[in-house]
Amino acid sequence: MSEALKVAVAGLGTVGVGTVELLRAQAALIEARCGRPIVVTDVSARDRDRDRGVDLSTVRWHDDAVAMARDAEVDVVVELIGGAEGTAKAVCETAVRSGKHLVTANKALLARHGFALAQAAETAGVTLSYEAAVAGGIPVIKALREGLAGNVVNRVYGILNGTCNYVLTTMRETGRDFDDVLLEAQALGYAESDPSFDIDGVDAAHKLAILTSVAFGTRVALDAVHVEGIRHVSALDIQFARELGYRIKLLGIARRTHVGIEQRVHPCMVPLDTPIAQVEGVTNAVVAEGDFVGSTVFEGPGAGAGPTASAVASDLIDLARGARIPAFSVACDALQELTPSPMSAHSGAYYLRLMVIDRPGVFAAGASALGEEHVSIESVLQRGRDPDEVVPVVMVTHETEEQAMIRAMERIAEHPAVIEPPRLIRIEAL
Ligand code: HSE
Repeated sequence: MSEALKVAVAGLGTVGVGTVELLRAQAALIEARCGRPIVVTDVSARDRDRDRGVDLSTVRWHDDAVAMARDAEVDVVVELIGGAEGTAKAVCETAVRSGKHLVTANKALLARHGFALAQAAETAGVTLSYEAAVAGGIPVIKALREGLAGNVVNRVYGILNGTCNYVLTTMRETGRDFDDVLLEAQALGYAESDPSFDIDGVDAAHKLAILTSVAFGTRVALDAVHVEGIRHVSALDIQFARELGYRIKLLGIARRTHVGIEQRVHPCMVPLDTPIAQVEGVTNAVVAEGDFVGSTVFEGPGAGAGPTASAVASDLIDLARGARIPAFSVACDALQELTPSPMSAHSGAYYLRLMVIDRPGVFAAGASALGEEHVSIESVLQRGRDPDEVVPVVMVTHETEEQAMIRAMERIAEHPAVIEPPRLIRIEAL
């Protein structure tokens, strides 16, 4: 029998324990598929005495994860601690510097330091793998790096945060408020430890920055991602979206424009008859559009012990089989600096909702501000007829430049009958 691939696991939370369990439960199948076993020999976590429901009596325990990454006699270090800095970063850097392959699920770290880490791995002659970092159990990194490697990708987009999708889906299905539904999502264990990472779009931005790099062969450029979360999406907007034939989804979108690469995370209205509109609850989905293949859709669980362990295992199986693929599709010195295509260069259709005092002339003032900025209106919805009652007015535009839309919205906001900041949601042509 060939020698086992020896693995050290740093971090024994849900995913760490799930990974140990998967490797044990599937030992025979993995050995058959790799021609050699994969064995966890070393582990490190904060609290040695905690009962994790998994037998750790046969593995070496390390109190210091960084020392383990340096000293353990293993082929691979799996980093499942999390966080862009601190111990997780030190473990990753130490592992590659010590000549060990690195598998990580750490999207925050890759979004910040992915390029430097890939360079360090390349210099040390080891592999950096991170299937679990983006869209959990969906093998989308593998799909882009390998399955679609013969294509120029012009757009990649998706539902990259299960918590937001759960919140938006549940709000639509039940009519409940945002805060109430968020608490439930957190209780279900999908949310990040800092919930603002989920609902303010940060987690999706981390994942998008990584996807962009793999899809376009550019260096990870997190700071070039335009990020808006879902805090301002109201039950009213969800209801209007339904009437207009859309669903509201938090999408991460990266696409080639005539300027460069546009990267954005924000709530979108997506047509009901598109595959992405049908992705509900905590499920994630990624759509990659290649020049030869056309549009490909990948859908599945984006978080949780089993799906994430499945992704970690696939990286380990690749290593055991001897596969060595560049971290971001091409060697580091061939990765291009990303030229950002800013939101000011964006154009699209828009949904604009105003809350106004229902008196004559208010609607005309809104329409005229749009007209003066050369924004063409496609349709209008207005509710309520009672003078002095506050009513919503919705205007849907034809494709227009974002800058013109923002200018018009600022003018509309100044009107005395407009009593709340107007809400803008981009309508995505998919
Ligand atoms: N908090 C993430 C989500 C899961 O809600 O999708 C892990 O990336």
